[in-house]
Amino acid sequence: MNARQRILAALASEPVDRPPVWMMRQAGRYLPEYRALRKDHSFLECVRTPDLAAEITVQPIRRYGFDAAILFSDILTIPEALGVDVTFPQGGPRLSPTIDGPEDVEKLPSVDIRKALGYVGGAVSASRRVVGEETALLGFSGAPFTLACYMVEGAGSKSWSKIRAMVHQPDSGLPQLLDRLADAVIDYLHMQIDAGVDAVQLFDSWAGQLRRVDYERLVLPSTRRIIASIVDRGVPIILFARHPGHLLQPTLEAGATAVSLDWRVELADAVGPAAELGVALQGNLDPTELFASHDHIRSRIREMHAAVGGRTGHVFNLGHGVTPPTPLDGVGAFVDAVRSLAQPSSTL
Ligand code: CP3
Repeated sequence: MNARQRILAALASEPVDRPPVWMMRQAGRYLPEYRALRKDHSFLECVRTPDLAAEITVQPIRRYGFDAAILFSDILTIPEALGVDVTFPQGGPRLSPTIDGPEDVEKLPSVDIRKALGYVGGAVSASRRVVGEETALLGFSGAPFTLACYMVEGAGSKSWSKIRAMVHQPDSGLPQLLDRLADAVIDYLHMQIDAGVDAVQLFDSWAGQLRRVDYERLVLPSTRRIIASIVDRGVPIILFARHPGHLLQPTLEAGATAVSLDWRVELADAVGPAAELGVALQGNLDPTELFASHDHIRSRIREMHAAVGGRTGHVFNLGHGVTPPTPLDGVGAFVDAVRSLAQPSSTL
C-alpha cells in the first residue's frame, strides 16, 4: 500500500496496513528549509508562484515522508480574489476594506474564481509533479464562516465580537456573505480537484466561537452545500471545525468523509458517533505535545490508536497546526511512532 492509497483508504474507513499521518501547517516556519526560502521571497510571492509553492509543499515530505502533502497556499486567497486587500505584516493577516453591513456584501464584485485564482491551479499541478504519484496531495479552502471572520474583523481576533454581534442581527448581511463565499469555495475546490488534488480539507478554524444552535442555523447550511458538491464528485472532503467539543455532533452530521478533531475532544468519545455515521476521524494530538519527550509522544500515539480501536478510519494529525518553534525531532518522533503501529483490527 503506498501513501496515497493508504490515506484514501483510511478516509473511506476501509482497511489499511497502518494508519496514515500528516500534519496541519506541515509546510511552514518550523522547517529551516522553509525559513531559508522565505529569506529571498515574501509569503505572498511563495503562494502566487507555482514552482515556489510546489517546492514548499514537498519540503515536509522530503524530510519526514508524511503520507499526504498539503498544498502550500492560504485560506485568504478567496477574500483577495473578491477584491479585498490582503497583507501579511508581522503579527498575522490584515484585510481591508472590512465588511460592515449588507451594502458591503452587495458591493463584492462577481468574480470568475477559476480565473482569479488560476495560480492556485498552477500550484496544484506543479506540486503534483514534484510530490509524485505515490503520495497524496491535499487541497484546501477556508470555510465561509472563517473567511467571513477575517473579512468582517479585518484581522485575527481573540473574541471575534464584531462578527459574533452580526450573528444576532438578521439584517447584518452575514447570511448573504456566507452564501457568496460558499459559491466561491465550491468553484475553488472543484478547480483544485481538476488540477489534481486527491482530497480536500475545509478549514473552519473559528466556527467554535459560536453556540451550537447558531452554528447549526447560520453556518451549517453553506458548509453542507460545499461538502455535498465535493462528495457528489466522489472526492473525499475533511471538515476541520476547531472547537472544544460542543460542535462534535453537527460536524459529524455535515456529510463530510472525515472530521478533523481539535485536541480538546477525546478521540474515544468521537469514535462511536463517527462509526455510526460512517465518518472517518482525523487528529488530534495537541501540537504542544510535540515539545514533550519522545517517550511521551510514542505513548500518546499508542493511546490514540487504541482509542480508535479499528472501529472507523483514522488519519493521524494534530488538533491544530504545528507552531513555528516546534522541535524538528518531536515531529520526527510523531511520524515514526505512527509508522511503527501494527495494522488495526477490523473485527473490533
Ligand atoms: O498546512 C499547510 O502546511 C499548508 C499551508 C497553509 C497555510 N495556511 C500556510 C501559511 C494552510 C492550510 C493555511 C490555512 C490557514 N491560513 C488557516 C486555517 C488553518 C488554521 O491555522 O486554523 C488560517 C486561519 C489562515 C490565515 C493565516 N495565514 C494566518 C492566521 C496566518 C498567520 C499565521 C502565523 O502563524 O503567523 C497566515 C500566514 C501563513 N499561512 C503562514 C503559512 C506558512 C506564515 C507565513 C510566513 O510568515 O511565512
